Amino acid sequence: MQEAHEPLFWVGACTVACVLLWLLYRLLSGFRIWVLGNGSLLTPRLGKWAVVTGATDGIGKSYAEELARRGFALMLISRSQDKLDDVAKLLEEQYKVETKTIAVDFGKADIYGTIEEGLSGLEIGVLVNNVGVSYPYPEYYLHIPNLDNFITNMINVNMTSVCQVRSKGVILNISSASGMYPVPLLTVYSATKAFVDFFSRGLQEEYRRQGIIVQSVLPFFVATKMTRIRKPTLDKPTPDRYVQAEVTTVGLQSQTNGYFPHAVMETILLQYTHTYCKACTTASFTTRKPVTPPSTIAFYYFYLVLHIHIPHTSLSNLSNERMKPASRGTRI
Ligand SMILES: NC(=O)c1ccc[n+]([C@@H]2O[C@H](COP(=O)([O-])OP(=O)(O)OC[C@H]3O[C@@H](n4cnc5c(N)ncnc54)[C@H](OP(=O)(O)O)[C@@H]3O)[C@@H](O)[C@H]2O)c1
Repeated sequence: MQEAHEPLFWVGACTVACVLLWLLYRLLSGFRIWVLGNGSLLTPRLGKWAVVTGATDGIGKSYAEELARRGFALMLISRSQDKLDDVAKLLEEQYKVETKTIAVDFGKADIYGTIEEGLSGLEIGVLVNNVGVSYPYPEYYLHIPNLDNFITNMINVNMTSVCQVRSKGVILNISSASGMYPVPLLTVYSATKAFVDFFSRGLQEEYRRQGIIVQSVLPFFVATKMTRIRKPTLDKPTPDRYVQAEVTTVGLQSQTNGYFPHAVMETILLQYTHTYCKACTTASFTTRKPVTPPSTIAFYYFYLVLHIHIPHTSLSNLSNERMKPASRGTRI
């Protein structure tokens, strides 16, 4: 009997040791990233200029300010010249740095000649591919008004811009936590952000040996014009607070949530609940019985309220009519 127990004892002991070692590793790497950080990497020694797309508002504007504070000259690329002039003036007055601007609409495909011309000759140290658009409200795919234009615009702004605006040095591509898992009702947005994440991670491996850093940044909610969150909280920070935390992860993580509470949310809410939900779905397929323990309900709560963040008004907008399956002949 004792002989039979001995191998089991060693299997158990090895499992416990592995789990403890894994926990220790997570703790130490968490300490390195979130407490010590890598704040001194982003300096003009990388190259005099920092380029930020979508730089007139929200996260992009905060990156522009943070990089100007670190002494970079700023090339700001966004849609409206008036807003670009305001931000450029602010940076010049507040941080005494040189600025240039390019006004282009990233929804259009023929702008990259203008951008290339504007960037030629600049010694670029940091590029932040930040420009992005989301849904005005969550919606079923086939019910999106003006669907064809919507798709073209979102692909151009969220995906083409990231592939076409290029540099050496450090490249920060702003994806989204919505790109880590499919997000129904924001399906196109979620898919474009998954593209940005995969593109960045692939590129990082291709060019790592040449000293180029490509980081995929996947924030959860940040209080900006896009999310219409007016009151920042610990888990929905101001863009300034988010960016200050994110820049310290550059060079330490090639894929990051950028902000400690968001990293915790990703680990607990998404990784574990997603795995749990998958297990429940598999179980319910196999047993042909629905699995509805309270934790599944909790999962859906977190998934809807925290991950998709459907505003309550938008939820009530999803009328019964919209819930009907696509009628025959509908293009899908
Ligand atoms: N906020 C969040 O919670 C969150 C979470 C995850 C990921 N993200 C990602 O972070 C990035 C920035 O988001 P944000 O919340 O800071 O957005 P935001 O506040 O809406 O700002 C977007 C910026 O992009 C510019 N822009 C928008 N459409 C453009 C176009 N067609 N051509 C040129 N410029 C354009 C805007 O210029 P105008 O002022 O002229 O419109 C503005 O400067 C996006 O890629 C977004 O997907 C955001």
